[in-house]
Amino acid sequence: MSTIYQATASAPVNIAVIKYWGKRDTKLILPTNSSLSVTLDQDHLRSTTTSRADPSFERDQLWLNGKEDEIKPGSRLETCITEMKRLRKEYEDQNPNEPKAISLLISSYKVHIASYNNFPTAAGLASSASGFAALVASLAQLYNLPASPSTLSLIARQGSGSACRSLFGGFVAWQMGSDPSGSDSLAVQVAPQEHWPQMHALICVVSDDKKGTSSTSGMQRTVETSTLLQHRIKDVVPWRMEKISKAILERDFDTFARITMADSNQFHAVALDTEPPIFYMNDVSRAIIALIVEYNRLSVEAGKGYKAAYTYDAGPNAVIYALEENIKEIVQLIVSYFPQKPGEFKDVWGIFGESAADLNTH
Ligand code: ADP
Ligand code: DP6
Ligand code: CO
Repeated sequence: MSTIYQATASAPVNIAVIKYWGKRDTKLILPTNSSLSVTLDQDHLRSTTTSRADPSFERDQLWLNGKEDEIKPGSRLETCITEMKRLRKEYEDQNPNEPKAISLLISSYKVHIASYNNFPTAAGLASSASGFAALVASLAQLYNLPASPSTLSLIARQGSGSACRSLFGGFVAWQMGSDPSGSDSLAVQVAPQEHWPQMHALICVVSDDKKGTSSTSGMQRTVETSTLLQHRIKDVVPWRMEKISKAILERDFDTFARITMADSNQFHAVALDTEPPIFYMNDVSRAIIALIVEYNRLSVEAGKGYKAAYTYDAGPNAVIYALEENIKEIVQLIVSYFPQKPGEFKDVWGIFGESAADLNTH
C-alpha cells in the first residue's frame, strides 16, 4: 500500500478595524492602502480544509462545503495551489537529501482539497479570509514546508486580500508594500491576543444572506469611480494605521474605538461615493450604530470613556469590539433593543476572548 499524503488545517476569520478596500494590482491582489484587523479566536467562524496529494489523481479539485467548486484556469484558487506547489518544488530542489518521510515528487502530484465553513459563505462574514488562509495552511502542512506565516500570507493574499491577515492571531497589519512584484505586501502581527486579553468581539448577525455586490467587484468599482477613495488612501489611512497600532500597543480603548468607528464610516462613505453607489448597511445596521453612539455618549458624559466600537464589512452585520467588563451590558442592550426575529435580527455571538463562549445567547 502506498503512503497517503494528507493534512488538515483550520483558520478563523478576521474583522478589519482599518478597512482594505481597493486594489492597485487586481491579479497579484496588491491593495491601495494598508489595513489592520483582529483575528477572531473562537470556534464560531472558521474554515477547516483538508488537502490530499496522490500520484493517481488526474487533476486538482476542490470541494467547498461538500460541493465541487471548479478550479478555473487563471483563477485565484489556481494561483494559490500553483504557488504552494512552487514553494514545495523549491524546497525539494534545495533539500535533495531530506529524510524520506515525504516523497520528493509530491510537488508534481495533483491535489484534492475539501473545505468546510462553519458559518455562511459569501455573506459578508469574511469567509474568503478564513477560506484562503486555511487552504494555504493545509497545503503548507501537506508539503511539510517550514514557511513562516508572513511567507504564507503572500500566497493567501493572492486568493483573497483579507486572507493574508488570518495567518496570524491577535492584532494583525497587512502592509501594502511598494514592490510591483508584491514581495513586500504581507501580513505582520502587531500584538498577540494575550497582549490585550480583555478585548472582545460580538458579532450581530443582521442577515446571513449572500451579499449583493461582492467585495471584489465592489472595490474595483470604487477604485474606478470614487474621488473620496483618493483622499482616504493618501490623507487618512496612513496616520490611522500608526495611531491605531499605538493604541493597541498601549491598550488605549478610547483611541481604538474612535478610529475603528471612523474607519468603518469612511469605508461605507467610499462605497456610497462609488458609481453606481453601493449600500452594504441596512436599517437594522444603522439602528445598531445609533444605539452604540448613544451608549458611548452616556458613558463619556459619566467620565468613563468609550465602551464599544462598531464596525461593518461589506454586508449589514455589525461587529462590536468592547472590553470584557462591558460585554454583558452590551449584549443585554442589544438583545433588548433588537429582539431576535427572523428577517430582522438573527443572533449575537460573543466570539473573541477567553470567556466569550459563555456569553452566547444560544
Ligand atoms: P465573504 O464576505 O464571505 O468573504 P467574498 O465575496 O469576499 O465573501 O468571498 C466569498 C468567496 O470566497 C466564495 O465564493 C469562495 O470562492 C471563497 N471561499 C469561501 N470560503 C472558502 C473556503 N473555505 N475555501 C476556499 N474558498 C473559499
Ligand atoms: C470590507 O478580501 O473579500 O472586508 O481581495 O477581492 O477577495 P478580495 O476582497 P476581500 O475584501 C474584504 C473587504 C472588507 C475589509 C477588510 O477585510 O479589510
Ligand atoms: Co471576503
